[in-house]
Amino acid sequence: MAVEPCTYVFFGATGNLSRLRLMPALYRLDAGNHLPPGSRVLAIGRRPWDQAKWRSEAKTMIEANLGADFDDAAFQRFSQRLHYHRGDITDAECFSTLAETLKQTDQFPQNLAFYLSISPSEFGPVLDALNQYQLFAENYGWRRVVVEKPFGYDLESANVLQKRIGRYLNEEQIYRIDHYLGKGTVQNILVFRFANVMLEPIWNRNYIDHVQITHSEQIGIGERGEYYDGAGAMRDMLQSHLLQMFTLVAMEPPVCMEAESLRDEKVKVLKAVRPITKESVHSHAFRAQYAKGRINGDLVNGYLQEPNIPANSVTETYAALKLYVDNWRWRGVPFYLRTGKRLEKAQSAISICFKHPPLEFFRDTRMQCLNPNWVLLGIQPEECLRIEMTIKEPGLEMNTRISSLEASFRQKDEKAVDAYEDLLLDVLLGDRSLFLRFDEVEYAWRIVDPILQRWADERDYIATYPAGSWGPEGCRRLFDKESQSWRSSLLPEECKFNADYD
Ligand code: BG6
Repeated sequence: MAVEPCTYVFFGATGNLSRLRLMPALYRLDAGNHLPPGSRVLAIGRRPWDQAKWRSEAKTMIEANLGADFDDAAFQRFSQRLHYHRGDITDAECFSTLAETLKQTDQFPQNLAFYLSISPSEFGPVLDALNQYQLFAENYGWRRVVVEKPFGYDLESANVLQKRIGRYLNEEQIYRIDHYLGKGTVQNILVFRFANVMLEPIWNRNYIDHVQITHSEQIGIGERGEYYDGAGAMRDMLQSHLLQMFTLVAMEPPVCMEAESLRDEKVKVLKAVRPITKESVHSHAFRAQYAKGRINGDLVNGYLQEPNIPANSVTETYAALKLYVDNWRWRGVPFYLRTGKRLEKAQSAISICFKHPPLEFFRDTRMQCLNPNWVLLGIQPEECLRIEMTIKEPGLEMNTRISSLEASFRQKDEKAVDAYEDLLLDVLLGDRSLFLRFDEVEYAWRIVDPILQRWADERDYIATYPAGSWGPEGCRRLFDKESQSWRSSLLPEECKFNADYD
């Protein structure tokens, strides 16, 4: 498809996200000849930099990120696209001069994509200012706005933000980003489910015992204390990335891959989630905070010792949730979601546990191992798709062991594509299928809002877990059955003989 050249305008261009993900992704797109000729990247920043300084800063950030994959010649070409606009976004002058700059049509293509990689409290004022200086007028090209998560702070603020954004832009122009949807392994959930016919008959309450979605990180909150303490794990990860993965596992097959069909089905699942009332929060959700401990042998601080964290903070760095989907496919099947910082291992994975086969057949054998089947989808860093089966061990005895059918996501010689590469390109293509529609955001907030409210009222106590562990013990209480427990490994687990075959 021929893509028209565009000017990508980045608010927050010198920030963390831009350094670590956005600029490297743009460089890679350019190096792969995916950016349309003539496209420009305009960074807005407060720092007193000129073009040359911005280009050298961008080089440092990209080189640090790409290491041996950095190619100087490719960067020289890319750097010709880079421009810097000095200005303070709280100051009207920043926008009046921006409008003037963008009028230089020989320099800047008139299709404009504004990327808001700024703090959520700044979204509104920046949108107002862009509108005030007619930067959303589509007289000479399209206008699109990419809004980073979190979209709002809760249901109410998300609605307020939506109203504000809706004053200036129509839905086709709004790209609410959740970078998890840009990950190849997350997109593979759709392919796995809907391109393999043998799965559909078993993908339901008749065969599946429960589903687990885990995102664990070894890193702490680093320098993000100010943002993180106001957000916490529920807003930062669960309401967005984990609920998105949940929708892909649980949704009905969409009619096609087209944006609206896909998003319709995702919304239906979110709507079918059994509401968690404020009274039932403790049986559905668990929060905790990391205390000091060891990560890979090194002693690390607890959350309360991190920079910019108030001594009495009860912000959660670990959040877990049990959801039920009250529809024909899933009624009664628990979905367990958990995320945390400073956990033993960095891993994102979806683990689907099937029901036990009937025991009767094996009654008079010496068989000790009868684990259920699991489907394991490793999202990162291990990218895998595994189906665990029980097989007979060779030999005279009727002993069994677990073996896996593997369908690796990526072969050794296939390159990884960063999620942002995919999404930044989709904005240029005008493809919104991997971006969120407002009702998705709204229903995701509806699910977690009562929990956040209850937690906000309970300011005296929060459970803790030692950094480097797999999280708080107390979280076990979310499980419906004795036989259910968190699965933290994608390798075959030890055989368990379990009489609880209900
Ligand atoms: C971000 C969160 O959205 O996702 C971070 O704000 C988190 O706290 C990050 O670390 C995880 O993303 P990824 O792609 O590294 O798994």
